Amino acid sequence: MDKITEQLYQAALKAYQNAYTPYSKFNVGAAVLLKDGKIIAGSNVENASYGLSNCAERTTLFYTYSQGYRQEDISKFLVLANTKKPVSPCGACRQVMAELLNEDVEIILTNLNQDIMKVRITDLLPYHFSGDNLRE
Ligand code: THU
Repeated sequence: MDKITEQLYQAALKAYQNAYTPYSKFNVGAAVLLKDGKIIAGSNVENASYGLSNCAERTTLFYTYSQGYRQEDISKFLVLANTKKPVSPCGACRQVMAELLNEDVEIILTNLNQDIMKVRITDLLPYHFSGDNLRE
């Protein structure tokens, strides 16, 4: 793992440790690397009304956008959980990633053993629904 990916990993790991998961006990951390060098991390946050729980990927991307950053400002996105294989983002998060990440963003899926799978959003969600479809 190169130095910047290690920093991204550590930020996601910290968020993973801060996850609010009283129901599933399944913690997830995510982190965005911005082209200006800044890292923004987030975790899943659950709710007693289970469906209101928010995944780590969406927490992180929504906060990144809330800070004023956009697709073109993002270079890498890392997601980790305590899974045997690199964590697999849920379908809802793939749809959100397809809207908020450029197709060339490196998505690093990993776990606590640092097993790594590198993908693009087109690998995770080919032929996705987008704003273009609304204008057709
Ligand atoms: N979760 C994520 O944060 N990201 C995913 O991609 C998969 C699922 C969370 C949602 C819930 O808090 C817990 O993991 C168990 O599903």
